[in-house]
Amino acid sequence: MRKIFVMTLALVLALASCSFADVKIGAGIYRFNDAFMLRFRNAMTAESGKLGATIEIADGRDDQPTQDAQIDGFLSGDVNVLIVNLVDRMAAQSVVDKAKSANIPVVFINREPSLEVLNTYSKAYYVGAKAEESGVFSGQLIADYFKSHPEADKNHDGKLQFVLLRGQNGHQDMILRSKYSVETIRDAGIEPVELAGAIANWDKLEAMKIMNAFIMSIGPENIEAVIANNDEMALGAVEALKAQDYNAGNPEMYIPVVGVDGNASALEAMDKGEMLGTVLQDAENQGAAAVRLALALAEGRDVNTIGYPITDGKYIWIPYQKITRGEKQ
Ligand code: BGC
Ligand code: CA
Repeated sequence: MRKIFVMTLALVLALASCSFADVKIGAGIYRFNDAFMLRFRNAMTAESGKLGATIEIADGRDDQPTQDAQIDGFLSGDVNVLIVNLVDRMAAQSVVDKAKSANIPVVFINREPSLEVLNTYSKAYYVGAKAEESGVFSGQLIADYFKSHPEADKNHDGKLQFVLLRGQNGHQDMILRSKYSVETIRDAGIEPVELAGAIANWDKLEAMKIMNAFIMSIGPENIEAVIANNDEMALGAVEALKAQDYNAGNPEMYIPVVGVDGNASALEAMDKGEMLGTVLQDAENQGAAAVRLALALAEGRDVNTIGYPITDGKYIWIPYQKITRGEKQ
């Protein structure tokens, strides 16, 4: 047993230390100015460095034509593999077509193309997290709080009056987090009532302005929860609430706010009692998995040896985790 273990360990170490010095990854990120994608970029850079590969990362500046031009540049240059965080998920087919005709593998991240699109190219994959799972977890955070805090039902009607801050239109995380958070509350036996909802594009400042407007029109005393599709928007809502002395220490003036991502700034807000909880999205493992998969594809190696399981021949799924007050659940 021990001998086998030592031999396996030696093999794993040999694989881990093999260098990809000749491999160059061309990566397109939908927009650099995004807190979660910054974690993702850092993870990809770190993993590439660890494995001795080169990575060039381009800022799509939230504009699909800009990203298309960057991808064209990568394909006509010297990259061996693409990692793409699409600006617009609907552009996936055209990216796959280009990559396929150049015989360059492509790993999509964070913005999930349809399976039909992935199936048009044997070297097209997706690395991400299941959007539905994050929606269920954020619904559970709110439902658990509501059940253990009777005072959270401010108007004593047994229902949960909430406001919803949504991410960018068309993003699977926006659609499925919104849907499953609310459904999970209902499944927990609490009737959810959406007082107001709006798209805040994953953005803190936009969310703060929208939350301000909600506070003015609805009154903070009538809002029993804030559900945000990500941490940045949750933090924007917290800013708007704090400006009204809510979520600032007085238990009479508190609204539970939940986000998704588990960014450091959200964990800090949770430690201060400003935010109830979040759902950790593991950018570090997603980034490492995307790079390892890209390198295996670039070198024509077996993708089943990279340390992250491939599902349905096309996907690497990294699980989410619920977090309240710094505690993983
Ligand atoms: C994250 C957001 C991020 C978005 C970018 C989502 O998965 O939760 O924070 O802005 O991806 O596409
Ligand atoms: Ca109520």
